[in-house]
Amino acid sequence: MLELGLKEFIPAATLAGKAPRFDHNSDFNFGVFSEKFDYVIARSIWSHAAPVQIKQMLDQFVKWSTPEAVFLTSILKADYGQDQYRGDTWVGRSHESDSGGVVRYRLEWIKDECRRRSLAVDELKRNILDQVWLRISRAK
Ligand SMILES: C[S@@+](CC[C@H](N)C(=O)[O-])C[C@H]1O[C@@H](n2cnc3c(N)ncnc32)[C@H](O)[C@@H]1O
Repeated sequence: MLELGLKEFIPAATLAGKAPRFDHNSDFNFGVFSEKFDYVIARSIWSHAAPVQIKQMLDQFVKWSTPEAVFLTSILKADYGQDQYRGDTWVGRSHESDSGGVVRYRLEWIKDECRRRSLAVDELKRNILDQVWLRISRAK
């Protein structure tokens, strides 16, 4: 996906000028560049990730982001009365699996996890397919 995106969508001059660096670690370690981020984007990641992986991403965001940083992430919401994913492994295609699949989360659970880390969550009005975007930042 990354190679295709770089080839098809990013002009060569932009790549040469910006010189982006990429890392593929599978344990959501945001500290591999020893840099603090202003923005983190996880599109269609929490719709496959386990609760423990989401908690890890939030912990890493707190540790490796600047004070005004924004974390944009998309989720599939658990419908009213529907339980959220409780497993401890990724669901869907990955470097380890060719099987599709998605998971759902309750917004209240995500808000609780954010609150524990002094983070605030806003649900954005703009969605992708049936996923909703969340904007996470430090609580004021
Ligand atoms: C549904 S795709 C979304 C890709 C991209 N963000 C987009 O919106 O097009 C999920 C991606 O997460 C990757 N992935 C799965 N498990 C991962 C892990 N433990 N760490 C990092 N990436 C993982 C998958 O290989 C896949 O490329």
